[in-house]
Amino acid sequence: MSRWRYPRIVAHRGGGSFAPENTLAALRFGAALGFKGVEFDVMLSGDGTPVLIHDETLERTTGVSGEVARTPYAELARLDAGAWLGERWRGERIPSFEQAARVCRELGLWANVEIKPAAGHERATGEAAARLAAELWRGAELPPLLSSFSREALDAARSAAPGLPRGCLVEDVPADWLARVREFDCVSLHCDHRSLTQPLARGIHAAGCAILCWTVNDPRVARELLSWGADCLVTDALDVITAAFV
Ligand code: G3P
Ligand code: MG
Repeated sequence: MSRWRYPRIVAHRGGGSFAPENTLAALRFGAALGFKGVEFDVMLSGDGTPVLIHDETLERTTGVSGEVARTPYAELARLDAGAWLGERWRGERIPSFEQAARVCRELGLWANVEIKPAAGHERATGEAAARLAAELWRGAELPPLLSSFSREALDAARSAAPGLPRGCLVEDVPADWLARVREFDCVSLHCDHRSLTQPLARGIHAAGCAILCWTVNDPRVARELLSWGADCLVTDALDVITAAFV
């Protein structure tokens, strides 16, 4: 049977759709609502600092043009990553992974760290994120779970921090899901919830693997996934799929 030691309801990108994604304000927002777990995305700046951001480009969340992988951290840290969602959030910054980890530890938030490499930076991102995660969560009761769509990033993460758990991220559950999970000794399969079926859920659990579904925003769908045994749901709908949902 699968074993899941982590929170079952997790806020997507920190604060779901209620706070600017991948910011410290988002982490604090989720925690204030009672969330015990967060998912966020980690990418490398142009000079190799792991930061929280989803897109490879800066436009959508900061309003300036540019590529994360070509911008030094000092420049990224000056950008406004909150105003796009509303005046209330103006002044929020792109946090470093280190700042985010410290806030998670301070607030008692468990983290699913999605390693989100910009194209061409897969190994470097996996290695840097995993090395830093091992350092920042040293001695923590619940270690962060490192996940990625990138096989190279997962491989590098395993080499850099073999003791940290890994999750295999996929969109649709592929036919070779078991080989993918075993390739990097993953404890969990993270799939688009629309691709999970009850028989698949049974098979995944029978292999001893946990199931995380993203991004689940409809409470009826959430109930169904939980009834199939899904171990963890990642949600944007922090108002209806609350930490107390399970
Ligand atoms: O980690 C699950 C989910 O966050 C993957 O999709 O694009 O929101 O990072 P995305
Ligand atoms: Mg993500």
